Amino acid sequence: MRIAEYGIKFMHEHDTGKDDIITIDGPVGSGKSTIGRLLADRRGLIYLDTGAMYRVVALEAHNRGIEPDDEKALQALCADIEISFAHDNDRQRVYSCGNDVTDAIRQPEISMLASRVSAVKVVRQALVQMQRKIGHEAGSVIDGRDAGTVIFPRARFKFYLDATVETRARRRYKELVEKNIEVSYKDIFQDIRKRDSDDSSRDIAPLKPADDAVIIDTTMMTIEDVLEKISQEIDTATASLP
Ligand code: DC
Repeated sequence: MRIAEYGIKFMHEHDTGKDDIITIDGPVGSGKSTIGRLLADRRGLIYLDTGAMYRVVALEAHNRGIEPDDEKALQALCADIEISFAHDNDRQRVYSCGNDVTDAIRQPEISMLASRVSAVKVVRQALVQMQRKIGHEAGSVIDGRDAGTVIFPRARFKFYLDATVETRARRRYKELVEKNIEVSYKDIFQDIRKRDSDDSSRDIAPLKPADDAVIIDTTMMTIEDVLEKISQEIDTATASLP
């Protein structure tokens, strides 16, 4: 597994420090990726969408006819594929072995498969190693399920976003419709319930807030509200440092 390139943003006056890691965990549709991207932009940090990496593995497994419980084949796959990220205006583009898979990895079928391959130990080992490498190279906002518990348990700032399942299903439905992906709200709602339950109940790196994470319920909040709250928490914590 290699990461060829990822969007490096330059530090600016809001810089929290080069080695800073901000983790944002939470379930599907809690707003992690939107908030993570905007926060990284504001603070001049790299944004790393770890879910996209599991999605690439799922897509490649699907394309190569690998079963999601075939550990050996998944291990070989992880050693073989190259994931890269690039920034295209406001949007992050994702590439697998040079092919643009930005939209393909968002298909509902691949979402469900990503949840399954993400429970496989060898897949997690390969991806976590790469995620740590990226995070250690520069200040980063890491969005995922285990960013604050496993990837960076010593991160300086940890957040866990949540919202009711209805709100999250509505957000995800709107997002997919805007991308012209054909879905029904009912299917999205059911997929989210299933992924929530699978991601939280798996043995390795289950979805849960780190003990020292700030938990934010975004159900009644706008994107701006959440960004403001996170920025305040970071600024307050930074100001109280010796
Ligand atoms: O955040 P997302 O919906 O793009 O993630 C897709 C799947 O990948 C999700 O169902 C769980 C898994 N995942 C994970 O296990 N660990 C991460 N750090 C990120 C995602």
